[in-house]
Amino acid sequence: MINNDRLIRACRRQEVDRAPVWMMRQAGRYMPEYRALRAKYDFMTMCKTPELAAEVSLQPYEILGVDAVIMFSDILVPVEAMGMKLDIVESKGPVLEDPIRAEAQVEKLTIPDPVETMPFVMETIRLLRKRLDRSAPLIGFAGAPFTLASYMVEGGGTRNYAEIKRMMYREPMTTHRLLDKLAETIILYVNAQIEAGAQVVQLFDTWAGELSAADYEEFALPYERKVFERIHRDHSGRGPAGSNVPAILYVNGCSHILEKMVESGADVLSIDWRIDLAEARRRVGDRVALQGNLDPCELLGAPETIAESVKEILKKGGGLGHIVNLGHGILPMVPVENARAFIEAAKAGIKEVA
Ligand code: CP3
Repeated sequence: MINNDRLIRACRRQEVDRAPVWMMRQAGRYMPEYRALRAKYDFMTMCKTPELAAEVSLQPYEILGVDAVIMFSDILVPVEAMGMKLDIVESKGPVLEDPIRAEAQVEKLTIPDPVETMPFVMETIRLLRKRLDRSAPLIGFAGAPFTLASYMVEGGGTRNYAEIKRMMYREPMTTHRLLDKLAETIILYVNAQIEAGAQVVQLFDTWAGELSAADYEEFALPYERKVFERIHRDHSGRGPAGSNVPAILYVNGCSHILEKMVESGADVLSIDWRIDLAEARRRVGDRVALQGNLDPCELLGAPETIAESVKEILKKGGGLGHIVNLGHGILPMVPVENARAFIEAAKAGIKEVA
């Protein structure tokens, strides 16, 4: 039992006293406490040092009072373990050396044993579970195969996804081989996180919304489904401990594929702000819980505006099976008091709405 089990109950569409709230990228540069540690250590050192990773994971929980803790790491950590050289460049983002462009490079990638190659991730999870002592649930995560493949083929962030799409259209078999290796890697990685103590898992298919509906069905959905089918989850709830972990799927720009995302087998769909939450609920019915969906840029507005928007989202969420969150990660320039206004408004609920 967890003292604050709102997130887990909401994932399962069970009744809660109020909707739980957390923020994607909640441990990050908008917090002075994070920046103070980052001044001393580079980003990957922080990811690979369990003491530091656990400390920054806990900052938003201790300072802002969110309802869940997400482990501090990055979706590209397992890509490095597969054999690519990764660099997170200040104010530029991730850079991967020798981007994957040919079948021979795909063949060279390994499917790493997560416990041997990324022991620091599992150690961070164990440390966090100990420190949290059942006070709040711990979220583990991974990138989904398509989103990871886009970084590996592009060599970093991209505006139009031309390289990954070139590979999809010219060499579909090679692309599928890459996606399949990624799925096998992510299944082992997420299961190791669950065995270490992750109580909810989120799969980030952030860039799958860049695909047409037909391409999403061919290059993203089958691999999301494969991961969700093979991670330790048993919907009867009667399996051994750790076998009934709720799973969240996030896609940025998901409006055109929302119904298809339900077929992934996720318990929760985390949606962006471009789609109205009430409309999303009508479209998916009661098959899944929904997470979201404030535009992260709204946190640059005034605290009163933020509170009004959160009330709207709460009304549209309807209480049951809704997790309050942003539609994408929090931005580094957000004032902490605005992040606090977001969390507080979600906790206050809609009671005082006349
Ligand atoms: O939510 C959390 O607080 C947990 C930590 C977390 C990070 N990245 C920390 C991070 C999570 C869940 C991620 C996921 C992630 N990483 C995604 C999927 C979700 C999303 O936001 O789209 C993606 C696409 C990445 C890849 C990545 N890593 C990018 C694009 C960047 C640069 C972003 C930037 O703002 O500079 C990173 C680096 C990164 N990952 C930072 C953090 C806090 C910033 C690094 C720093 O401190 O300099």
